[in-house]
This record gives sequence, C-alpha cells and structure tokens, in this order.
Amino acid sequence: MIREILTYPNPALKKKSAPVAVISDAVRELVRDMAETMYDAPGVGLAAPQIGVHQRVIVIDVSAKDEPPELIVAINPVITYSEGEAFEEEGCLSVPHYAANVRRHARVIVKALDLEGVERTWRAEDLLAIAFQHEIDHLEGILFVDHLSPLKRELFIRKARKAAEEKQ
Ligand code: NI
Repeated sequence: MIREILTYPNPALKKKSAPVAVISDAVRELVRDMAETMYDAPGVGLAAPQIGVHQRVIVIDVSAKDEPPELIVAINPVITYSEGEAFEEEGCLSVPHYAANVRRHARVIVKALDLEGVERTWRAEDLLAIAFQHEIDHLEGILFVDHLSPLKRELFIRKARKAAEEKQ
C-alpha cells in the first residue's frame, strides 16, 4: 500500500525512531509499503518515520533506471565505519522542491538486519554511501537541510515558509 509521505515542517520528522525488537508480520508489511511508496514517488530511499512510523527501518534503491531494481532493506542500521569526504547534491521526498549540497562521508560500512533477521554488512561508496547516511539520519530525526550552513539553512526556512503561505 502506498503511504502518505510526511513533509517538512511536520514535527514527526524530528522524532527519533526506536529499534525494531521483532521482525513481525507488521514489520514485513511496513517494509512492503515503504518500498512501494519509494518506487511510486519515485525516490532512491525512504525511512519509516517519513511515513509516520518511528521504527528503525530504511529502504534504498540506487540502481540506475536501465538496471533491474536492487532493493536494500536495512532494519536497525548502524554505521560502524566511515571515511573520506563527499559534497553532493541531495534531495528528500520529505523536502519537496528543494535540493542542496551536503557534506557527508564518502565511504561507510553499515551493519543491519535484513527482513529474515540476518545481520548483513554493506561496504558502501558514492551514492549508496550518501543514501545510507541520509536515511539513517531520518531515524534520528535529522533532515538533510539540518546539515546546511546557518545562512543556507535560514534561506531554506524562509523559502519553505513563503511556499507554505502561498499554498493557503
Ligand atoms: Ni530523506
């Protein structure tokens, strides 16, 4: 089922998510819905709090359009190692109509459970490394705009306020 994606400044996006204790049918359904919602949007990643569920679950697919889809499901993901620097443009399904360059690590190692409850390790670089950092941030209630310089962040907030006023 395609779920509604919450958008900035919804306070639910600022809330920290709790670890998944048991990979139950409800969690499997959540993952199915998250993947469907991400592909429908379309986006390259989605974290559970973006659909209002505060559990540590993310889905990512950074495969190119002409490649077969390659869905990554990461439950209780943890970055165990990071190195290097990246400064790439990011967007977010929860922050529509806005993109900005964000400082990240260029390479990360992520450990998480898959849907079968098996611990998996990803050695990620480039877009996948950025996607992991971006989605894991969501589980902490952090949006990519929170990484902007104070001046750029202020400009973003003003732009968002103006867009919200124009909607009314
Ligand atoms: Ni996002």
